[in-house]
Amino acid sequence: MKIFTNLSNLENVKASSIVLFCYEDDFINDPVIKKIESIFIGSIKHLFESGEFTGKLNQTVVLHTGSSILADRIILAGLGDKKKVNDDCFRQASGTISRLPAIISSSSVAFYPNNETGRKTVAAIIEGFLLGSFIIDEFKSDAYKKNLSLPVLMICARSKKEATSFDKGIEIGQIIAEGVILARRLAADPGNFLTPQKFASRASALAKKYNFGCDILDETKIKAEKMGALLAVAQGSELPPRVVVVKHLGGKKGGQPIVLVGKGITFDTGGISLKKPLEMDGMKGDMSGGGIVLSTVVTAARLGLKQNIIGIIPLAENMPSGRAIKPGDIVTSRKGKTIEILNTDAEGRLILSDALDYANKFNPKAVIDIATLTGATKYILGYAGIPFVGNNDKLIELIRAASDRCGELVWPLPIWDEHRGMVKSSIADLKNSAGPYSGTITASAFLENFIGSWPWAHIDIACVDIEKKGRPYIPKGQTGIGLRLLVELLTEWKKV
Ligand code: BES
Ligand code: MN
Ligand code: ZN
Repeated sequence: MKIFTNLSNLENVKASSIVLFCYEDDFINDPVIKKIESIFIGSIKHLFESGEFTGKLNQTVVLHTGSSILADRIILAGLGDKKKVNDDCFRQASGTISRLPAIISSSSVAFYPNNETGRKTVAAIIEGFLLGSFIIDEFKSDAYKKNLSLPVLMICARSKKEATSFDKGIEIGQIIAEGVILARRLAADPGNFLTPQKFASRASALAKKYNFGCDILDETKIKAEKMGALLAVAQGSELPPRVVVVKHLGGKKGGQPIVLVGKGITFDTGGISLKKPLEMDGMKGDMSGGGIVLSTVVTAARLGLKQNIIGIIPLAENMPSGRAIKPGDIVTSRKGKTIEILNTDAEGRLILSDALDYANKFNPKAVIDIATLTGATKYILGYAGIPFVGNNDKLIELIRAASDRCGELVWPLPIWDEHRGMVKSSIADLKNSAGPYSGTITASAFLENFIGSWPWAHIDIACVDIEKKGRPYIPKGQTGIGLRLLVELLTEWKKV
């Protein structure tokens, strides 16, 4: 898709559809709306007074111009109450618009800004549109492919100066949306396509394309590193494990990096503690955290972020088999701590424990891990947001502030000594499962045993990784949620 700025005024915009954003109730006084009211001779006032269109968030109406101006249609997009509108409202409105039949049958769409539109709002509009219209059709045979791809998208600017700033917004919005889409695709790729080895070769191909570093630890190197917890999870599968290390070194030469760690279980059957069949297919996305870490490094490289960023992604498939780990088995982690495996389905914390310990190699200034770790998250925030933990108030605050700006909602949880006690084993140092209660926190308390003396945060994206109903810019399926949060955090990073 081509995306660019357009300097024509409303009457002369050459596009199949023009989109105008409208504040609830207030839009009727907007000068641009007043101008088009003359084209439609009072019909907008009528739409408003009849209550058909009031400008509520995600409300839309399509008006055909009957060739009174160059564009075929004007589409009104509600933003909601002007006092509450932020960039996420533009992102939502744009996502809603992206799937309208009127848009799908357009060959070009122009967004006409209002006075509040700046560079960041433009980025949000682009993100909303690209993310809202995203579909996966590469697994369909040709006969079933839907072609939703619109050839041309424009953002109208009122001056050269505005166009320059909007151009930057378009570039950033497109890179970020493509980052989310990469994360979604990786998560949606089935277990028979995206194996640990395939994930690793995707990472090295992306590293070549976008010019960042990539090292891959194969089984021999993983053994040499004594990553006993990762090897234990992988041993039940025919597929060998991998650890992918990706590096975007955009900061000071030799400066301490921010390390991101992402869970990369390419399929989680639960192992010998087998999951119930219902919705087990969703476990192809159990490498979502790893996919987000890889996509974040790709995005950081494309945006040229001035930070040293290292991503560590431990990859394995969790399978039941004659060689698989069993409940009661005891394994030794890279750090030397012994772990009693009570539930083979609590495999994420096992592979993360070795990856977190491996992070020490890079002398990090902070480490953030992201994982589809516990189904218990749905009893905390439901599907509405992401619970996370942290051991550093400044880092917690940075994550909360990034969340506020990007619209991916988070809320911090504590780890108390009672939770720390819950993951102690009577026979080994730790046990990998403490039962269902406070499951998200006890998983975090387990991970905490493997961190170094650095600021750390753990983000549990289980449950937000898959969208069941469809939201304005998040169609049904794998969401890529977490990518924009991390990119926003890294872009606005402050010392912790
Ligand atoms: N990958 C799952 C967590 C998950 C569940 C992600 C639902 C997305 C949706 C993880 O490996 C797991 O199975 N966790 C167990 C932990 C338990 C055995 C302590 C869980 O949540 O039930
Ligand atoms: Mn599991
Ligand atoms: Zn899992």
